Amino acid sequence: MRIAAFEVRDDERQSFDDEARRLGVEVALHEEKLEPGNATMAEGFDGVSTLGLSRLDSSLLETLARQGVKVVATRTVGYNHIDLDAAKRLGIAVLNADYAPNGVAEYAVMFMLMVLRNYKPSLWRGQVYDFSLKGLRGRELRNLTVGVMGTGRIGATVIRCLTGFGCRILAYDPHPNDAVANHAEYVDLETLYRSSDIITLHMPLLPSTEHIINRDTIARMKDGVVLINCARGGLMDLEALIDNIESEKIGGLGLDTVETEEDLIHRDRRTDILTNRGVAYLRQFPNVVMTQHMAFYTDAAVHSMVNCSVEGIRSVLDTGTFRTRIA
Ligand code: COI
Repeated sequence: MRIAAFEVRDDERQSFDDEARRLGVEVALHEEKLEPGNATMAEGFDGVSTLGLSRLDSSLLETLARQGVKVVATRTVGYNHIDLDAAKRLGIAVLNADYAPNGVAEYAVMFMLMVLRNYKPSLWRGQVYDFSLKGLRGRELRNLTVGVMGTGRIGATVIRCLTGFGCRILAYDPHPNDAVANHAEYVDLETLYRSSDIITLHMPLLPSTEHIINRDTIARMKDGVVLINCARGGLMDLEALIDNIESEKIGGLGLDTVETEEDLIHRDRRTDILTNRGVAYLRQFPNVVMTQHMAFYTDAAVHSMVNCSVEGIRSVLDTGTFRTRIA
């Protein structure tokens, strides 16, 4: 059984080697993303493993199917980069990852605290030996209302983490989760927008959720609202965020992902000419904390992502099933 893995980082190699040995499969590791120009690298392999930058649209999937690939596994929870309908039509099985939600959930709570306590300007001051307090007075979570949009595994874990802070917690999800109902009050979106001091997104990126945070929805939120996004950049209209940070309608942002991140994430761009104007501009605000799509990035999650992908491909090829099979 042969697997071709793409977008492989150095810190994943050990887990790939361990899993390949443990499960008796051959794994070829490639740093580059999988794209039409290098799809022949998957020729003759039974399964393909990628992260989120490989766009598995119908044409790339057709090429893979022609080359004999039977299973595609993304080492990510999100799968908006894969055309599931095309995969089904072509008879390619698709798997995603199910690493523990705690890393991302804790990161979202960390962002809330960083923004509420003005951590970024305080860090800047410390670096130039300025230990003044002026302008850094913060707010306490226990006095605030947090709206959680999306209560799947990650959103539900955010809610569990928040219960210790004593804040009011509102939740929205088209499919309410019984486990959440004891800790949060399910409300409609309008109520969540109108009542929340902080809104954190934990929804998948789908045609129905793309730009769910836009000029109209922001206008319906509280003045000074804090928005947190550790899910997918495309959930928020970047231009609307910029305008509303400038006007101070938005009081703070914690963004681990933005819609135009593709040419930036997980790359060292220090010596390159700036091209991403939105990110370059937004990241300068003292009340905007931005990171490189790394909320997932913990030792436990990295191992789980690789394990799930290799074990999942093997299981589907052997038995036709795996717990994370989505198509
Ligand atoms: C996911 O698992 O969906 C992620 O966003 C992590 C990915 C960027 C490696």
